[in-house]
Parts: sequence; C-alpha cells; structure tokens
Amino acid sequence: MNADTPAIAIDRVQFRYGRPGPRRRDIPLVLKDISLSVAAGDILCLLGPSGCGKTTLVNLIMGVDVPTSGTVRVLGETAPFRTARARIGFMPQDDALYEDVTAEENLRFFAALYGVKGEHLARRMDELFAFVRLQRHRKKLVHDYSGGMKRRAEIARGLVHDPKVLFLDEPTTGLDPQTRANVWEYIQRLQKQKNMTIFLTTHYMDEAEVCSQVVIMDHGKIVAHDTPENLKHQYTGTEVDVTCAQTEPLESALQERDVPYRKDKNKLMFHTKKASAALEILSAHRGEIMDFEVKSGTLNEVFLAITGKEIRE
Ligand SMILES: Nc1ncnc2c1ncn2[C@@H]1O[C@H](COP(=O)(O)OP(=O)(O)OP(=O)(O)O)[C@@H](O)[C@H]1O
Ligand SMILES: [Mg+2]
Repeated sequence: MNADTPAIAIDRVQFRYGRPGPRRRDIPLVLKDISLSVAAGDILCLLGPSGCGKTTLVNLIMGVDVPTSGTVRVLGETAPFRTARARIGFMPQDDALYEDVTAEENLRFFAALYGVKGEHLARRMDELFAFVRLQRHRKKLVHDYSGGMKRRAEIARGLVHDPKVLFLDEPTTGLDPQTRANVWEYIQRLQKQKNMTIFLTTHYMDEAEVCSQVVIMDHGKIVAHDTPENLKHQYTGTEVDVTCAQTEPLESALQERDVPYRKDKNKLMFHTKKASAALEILSAHRGEIMDFEVKSGTLNEVFLAITGKEIRE
C-alpha cells in the first residue's frame, strides 16, 4: 500500500439482505451503486435519515457483510479481509460490551481476539483507560457504568489493537451534552495524534461540521459528498440582515435584481446564492446601512435541501 492508496475505497457496491437463493432477487436493494473513496487521515461523516442504509454500509466496509455486487477495499485489501481486519477498529451503534464483567476484562477479551497480550496489553490498557478517563473505574462491572461511561469504554475497546481505521456508528447518540463533547474530543484527538482514518455516522450536525468530508445518503444512495464548506456553499446561500436609516433605496435595488426580501421595521432580510452578490448589494448602499449581519447556510439546511427531511425523521 503506498501513500496515495485510499484508506477506504468502495466501488459500485449494491447490497440486499436475505439468504442466498432464487427468491433473493425479489428482495429490494438496501444499498444502490455506492462508490466512495476516503483518504488516510480523513474524518468522514456519514449522514442520512434513519433507515437509509448507514449501518449496513458500515458493516460492509467492516467486512461483517459481503456486498451483493461491487468491491470494498480497506487499507489496500479487498474484502473479505485476511490481514486488514487487524487494522480496523469498530464501535457499534448498540452497546457491545459484556455487562457482567469489568471494563478491564472486556478489553482483555477483545485484545485476545487480536493477539494483543502480555506487557504490551498492560501498557495499552493503561494508555486507553487514561485516554477515555476511566482509570478509576476500570475494575467496575460494565453493568454499573452510566451510558456515557459505556460509550467511552466502547471507544477504548475499539482501539485496543491500535487500528489504522476506526468506524464509529453513532458514537454520541443518547449522551448528555458534556459526555458528547468529551467523546467527540477523543475522536478528534485520535485523528490529530495518530492520523487515524475515522469513518463515523451521526445525527448531530455540529459533529458533521468539523469533519473533513461529509457524505449524505438517502434511500440507499449517496446523494452528496464534499467538505462541509463546499456543501454549504453549493446547497445553501447567504442570509443577510441589514438595518438601514431608510429602507427604500435598498428595497428598490433588491426589487430591481428580483431578490425576494422580508421587512421588519427598518430591517431588511434577504437571501443570495453567492456571498459576492450580497457584498455587491451592501457596498452599493453602504451610506444607508446602520448595521448588518451576514450568515452562511448550515449543514442542516444542506441536509433539508438534499433529502427534503429533517435529520431525525
Ligand atoms: N438484518 C437485516 N435484515 C433485513 N433488513 C435489514 C436488516 N438490517 C437493516 N435492514 C433494513 O435495511 C435498511 C437500512 O438499515 P440501516 O440499519 O442500515 O439504516 P441506518 O441508516 O443505519 O438507520 P439508523 O439511522 O436508524 O441507524 C432499513 O430499511 C432496514 O429495515
Ligand atoms: Mg444505523
């Protein structure tokens, strides 16, 4: 694998659930023609309405399921993996730790699956429990952990074999805001300190906002893939609120340009596709403007524009 090999490369992948057999063709496809490439060290966020196929896609890239057609390559190796699996870490959407043993025993068990043992394991566990700030609780039963502690222990578990690529399926869902911020801080730290490739799904737009790439899925297809900035640029415009001493000159200018606007006393609010158009209007009327605010679109608006749905629908 050379430096230019993508960490993850998916080529025309289709997938349907169900057992192999003559009737399987009648089952609808859950994933339709997915192609995607993720460079090493990227944090990619997969967004999409519930049921659109995010977990299914993550399971395929992890090698848990096999595509009906198309190929999945991770770290240069085509699934099903022989060696790449040892370099992939996973935090599933649902808690997967054993509740009736301690967090430490959980980590030990998963480490054994990857052949991590002895002093190396002891050092690794010290590091990981410190990383997710569970040192004081590592000998507690997972059953007695809070939701946030469980999610943090899940992250530690996913990292026990020092993977190069980490998949996180809704790592912060259901957490209180402070724990969510903590978990998110660990994720960003991993990317920065280890140049880890991180592939995650989330329903939180503020998390998507700080990822290097955002992929939006709907009905089993990728409907958009770009940086958060480019997506906002492409799918939303610029909202401008201007307070004027006199609104009439600016109103005439907006009418001339066919720019729809709203008016609230001496405040005018309008929307332009490009920031440069807003700037042009503002500078032509700078003498009349007392105050103004320029807001670019949000990823929420991008999501709504593309899927027609709110993220939680
Ligand atoms: N084991 C399964 N057998 C059959 N169909 C399944 C199975 N798992 C998921 N599906 C179906 O596949 C589709 C995609 O499900 P998936 O779990 O990938 O969605 P998701 O985008 O992860 O949703 P969420 O945001 O709710 O987690 C859904 O229609 C779901 O009902
Ligand atoms: Mg899911």
